[in-house]
Amino acid sequence: MNRVYIKTYGCQMNERDSEAVAAQLRARGYSVVENEHVADIVLLNTCAVRDQAEQKAIGKSGYLAKRKRNNPDFVLGVMGCMAQNRGTALLEKLPDLDLLVGTQKFHRVPQMLDQFIQSQKGLGPRPSTLVDLDAEEGSEETIREHLGDKQAVSAFVSIMQGCNMHCTFCIVPKTRGPERYRSMDSICEEIEELVANGTREVTLLGQIVNSYGMRQIPYKNGISPFVQLLERINAIEGLERIRYTSPHPRGFQKDLVEAYGRLEKLMPYVHLPVQSGSDSMLKRMRRPYTRRRFLEIVDQLRAVQPEIALSTDIIVGFPGETGEEFEDTRSLFEEVGFDMAFIFKYSERSGTKSAEMDDDVPPEVKDERNKILLDILGESSLRRNEALVGSMQPVLLEGPARKGKGIFMGRNPANRKILVPASPRLVGQTVPVRILEATVSVLNGELCLSGIDEEETAVLPVSK
Ligand code: 5AD
Repeated sequence: MNRVYIKTYGCQMNERDSEAVAAQLRARGYSVVENEHVADIVLLNTCAVRDQAEQKAIGKSGYLAKRKRNNPDFVLGVMGCMAQNRGTALLEKLPDLDLLVGTQKFHRVPQMLDQFIQSQKGLGPRPSTLVDLDAEEGSEETIREHLGDKQAVSAFVSIMQGCNMHCTFCIVPKTRGPERYRSMDSICEEIEELVANGTREVTLLGQIVNSYGMRQIPYKNGISPFVQLLERINAIEGLERIRYTSPHPRGFQKDLVEAYGRLEKLMPYVHLPVQSGSDSMLKRMRRPYTRRRFLEIVDQLRAVQPEIALSTDIIVGFPGETGEEFEDTRSLFEEVGFDMAFIFKYSERSGTKSAEMDDDVPPEVKDERNKILLDILGESSLRRNEALVGSMQPVLLEGPARKGKGIFMGRNPANRKILVPASPRLVGQTVPVRILEATVSVLNGELCLSGIDEEETAVLPVSK
């Protein structure tokens, strides 16, 4: 028994952490499977940012725990943010858990699982629940290796852990701890190795990436540590595209805006969470910028890169949200015309500042506000996508699409998902694609070989 299935809830950071656990387990002889039904060990990597995410993982754990009745060797673990947030209190709800692992202890999972394997071989007692939720000095450097031998055209690279902001609604500072940064050398080395293994695009990950290195790495000629890091990564030969998520509007200064005009690998797409378009609400959320400042950043980015794509996060129904405050969010949302957005209904998280406020916006009002924004988004993404029909886009092909034989998935610089009939040899190449059709979420296209045969196109990658 050593087939492990890892189910991931929540953000890219969690996906990245799951990849790291999977790689470490593979290196130790476990096989990581894609189907929970054939697994002997199931690990849930959880999210705590909204109640719904926690309830889903709790429901799933309860369901999986039943498998232990038929198979006493079955191992069930909960890792990540919900484990950190709820701690051992979770065991009252889920007494069958074998593993409870916090956000700074992912690297300890293989060692913990080994103890269960040993017991099955009769080499030791079966442990009761193994719990490790402590903080760990230097854990930001334990998140380095994550793909192992697995190749990926596009890879996540964690540059930091934790968050020092104090947004009143947010549980993350509690689940992920204060900011810790990896060194630039170690990040660049990791990317060089990824590139040598076939990666062409990296997405740098952090709760607030533009705080990278703050108060530890000095500014150089007015250039912040994060932009210095982008400069270094931009110089890595063989890498074609750089993305990152998420920045905070507060630290989105001129040096980062200008980077879009001079770093050719930096892709013209920014996910910039605004949360609200109302100044009074931003104050209550403890988001230290104004509506005007946010719109100014958008204008500055568009001045440097007119084609830049923008996405955002918004919360509707934060405590005390008046009709007028929501109207400010609605009008900002319409004015910017985002390509993509995540719209969330406020969810009270115990331990946050806003949990002390009255969650007084009725559910039906939250629903209605949510729908108003979704309708605007549907229209604006469709409009932005339709504008690309007929154009030629440089598409980095990532691999076969989930549906459709012979169809491959890739992205244009603005991060739009594009489906195109192609051949497996072209995976990892940036190829010219003519866009034929647009929906809200995806573009369909055809390889544009313009008289050159496919063989040659494969060695003629187009740049940004
Ligand atoms: N309720 C609803 N949405 C939340 N987010 C964070 N905390 C909450 C909460 N308590 C949203 C924010 C953040 C995204 C990752 O999740 O918009 O940017």
